[in-house]
Amino acid sequence: MVTFALLALLACIAPVLAAKKKSIEVVVPKKSVEVVVPRALSVELANTSTFALNDGQKMPVIGLGVYVTKPGNETYNAVKWALNLGYRLVDTAELYRNEKSVGKAIRDSGIPREKIWVTTKLWDAHHGYEAALARGAEQVKELGLEYIDLFLIHSPRTGKLVETWDALIELKRRGLTKSIGVSNYNVQHIKALVDHKRELPAVNQFEMHPMVYAERKPLVEYCVKNKILVQAYGSMFFGKTEFLEDPAVVEVTAAHPGKTPAQVLLRWGLQMGFQVIPKSTKRHRLEENMGIFDFELSEAEMQRLSSMTGSLNAYWNPLGSPVDLGKTEL
Ligand SMILES: NC(=O)c1ccc[n+]([C@@H]2O[C@H](COP(=O)([O-])OP(=O)(O)OC[C@H]3O[C@@H](n4cnc5c(N)ncnc54)[C@H](OP(=O)(O)O)[C@@H]3O)[C@@H](O)[C@H]2O)c1
Repeated sequence: MVTFALLALLACIAPVLAAKKKSIEVVVPKKSVEVVVPRALSVELANTSTFALNDGQKMPVIGLGVYVTKPGNETYNAVKWALNLGYRLVDTAELYRNEKSVGKAIRDSGIPREKIWVTTKLWDAHHGYEAALARGAEQVKELGLEYIDLFLIHSPRTGKLVETWDALIELKRRGLTKSIGVSNYNVQHIKALVDHKRELPAVNQFEMHPMVYAERKPLVEYCVKNKILVQAYGSMFFGKTEFLEDPAVVEVTAAHPGKTPAQVLLRWGLQMGFQVIPKSTKRHRLEENMGIFDFELSEAEMQRLSSMTGSLNAYWNPLGSPVDLGKTEL
């Protein structure tokens, strides 16, 4: 009788366990006042895992970034290879001038549109309600896809924060994008939206890696507390060898035979609860950058990396931009 009950129980939970191994959903903790950085992410993560966003969409935990990837063949091939290797998210922007090539590679891939997540960004020149609305619709056309999965405001630099955000809300309402978010926003920029009773961004994408973690911790904490997913850029130190060879990275990497500094840094990002978008134009590196789901960094290794200091000097830093609201009534 007991054996039968045990067998019945196993039969019930086996499919659940099997499904869990294949693809799990990572939910940013609801109560995050004390455990501000989600550390619950474990080796169970797979490249098919997703983050549950505050708007109900599910975003792949890893994707391909295409900043400084040349329009045309370079972008087309990188996206096609990435999709073949199992990437299901591409992060582009008007600024990168490669939206058309991204869209073509996706259309030619034969993978159903709904299986691929496409992020693009509204460039600084198009802030303001009418301008942002018009530009967003044009970008969907240029991508040659029916909709964008995530439309981000690239930075707060040119202001009109509330009315530009209203345009993104309208683009979502019209079905041109499924999720909306921001990039390079600091706490004060997001608070401007909250203060004007607008919905919260689903994502904030900003430079995030061990060397900027300490100074940006308050922003990370604010995002986690408000269920805004942190999307990290520059996770591999923009490929800069002098930083990839920093003693902290070298020591942690040495403890994981077969792993590389880039993989260790990407894994750090994942274990911090950040979505990562490593960029490469090389097939072997696209494959390498996906190889981050079969090892785990210890708490001590995470701390060692998080205590790194230094400046990458690779990017702009619009986090200090003034808060200019623009029109707050439609
Ligand atoms: N919102 C924003 O303002 C903003 C700003 C910057 C970036 N982003 C987004 O974030 C993405 C990622 O950031 P990122 O491209 O600046 O930097 P990254 O991903 O940290 O580094 C990319 C650099 O690392 C090299 N690389 C790739 N794989 C490597 C590996 N396994 N080992 C050593 N080097 C490797 C690449 O060269 P190869 O191509 O030659 O392999 C490239 O030079 C961007 O592509 C873009 O989509 C957004």
